[in-house]
Amino acid sequence: MKTQRISYRRSTADDTQAVFDLVTASVRRLAPVPYSQEVIDTWMEGRKVEDYQPDCVQGLVWLAEAGYRPVGFSQGEPGEVKRLFVDANFVGLGIGASLMERALDDARSGNKKTIVIEATLNAVPFYKKWGFGEVSEGIFPGREGLPPIRIVRLTASFG
Ligand SMILES: CC(C)(COP(=O)(O)OP(=O)(O)OC[C@H]1O[C@@H](n2cnc3c(N)ncnc32)[C@H](O)[C@@H]1OP(=O)(O)O)[C@@H](O)C(=O)NCCC(=O)NCCS
Repeated sequence: MKTQRISYRRSTADDTQAVFDLVTASVRRLAPVPYSQEVIDTWMEGRKVEDYQPDCVQGLVWLAEAGYRPVGFSQGEPGEVKRLFVDANFVGLGIGASLMERALDDARSGNKKTIVIEATLNAVPFYKKWGFGEVSEGIFPGREGLPPIRIVRLTASFG
């Protein structure tokens, strides 16, 4: 598995389910550190496969594939790196960095100099390697009645 070549391409509508599955699987491994089991168990509540469809259709998502198997994805939009997930069986191979480069390029498009990331707690040290610094703490919005998911807001400036 570790010697398998990884390829990168932009998403199509057909990738919607794979993207949703990658998020679901990735979230599960964030328990019990740094998130409680209660948070993990309710993380995907209210989220649907279709939520990811418009971005996939528009090709805004970068897919990493081992053969034809999706093993990670990222997404950047002007001013923000929005999403980055790597399959647990494929972490530590440089895939996150390659996906981050692509999302960051998209985030910097439109001449945006300051880029924002709302990061889960586990990923903060990863983003700091890219020059991002913490500006505040918060919680994911839209989870009324559910255990809060703590996040850290980070920014970086690019000349
Ligand atoms: C965070 C994540 C994207 C990293 O992906 P990855 O493919 O393992 O990262 P890479 O192998 O490309 O690592 C690149 C560098 O970052 C470092 N790194 C990776 N994860 C790290 C972490 N959690 N903390 C600190 N450093 C980390 C690696 O050691 C490597 O360092 P090096 O360049 O000095 O060798 C991945 O672990 C993941 O998807 N986690 C769960 C989902 C998640 O938290 N996404 C972010 C939501 S905001």
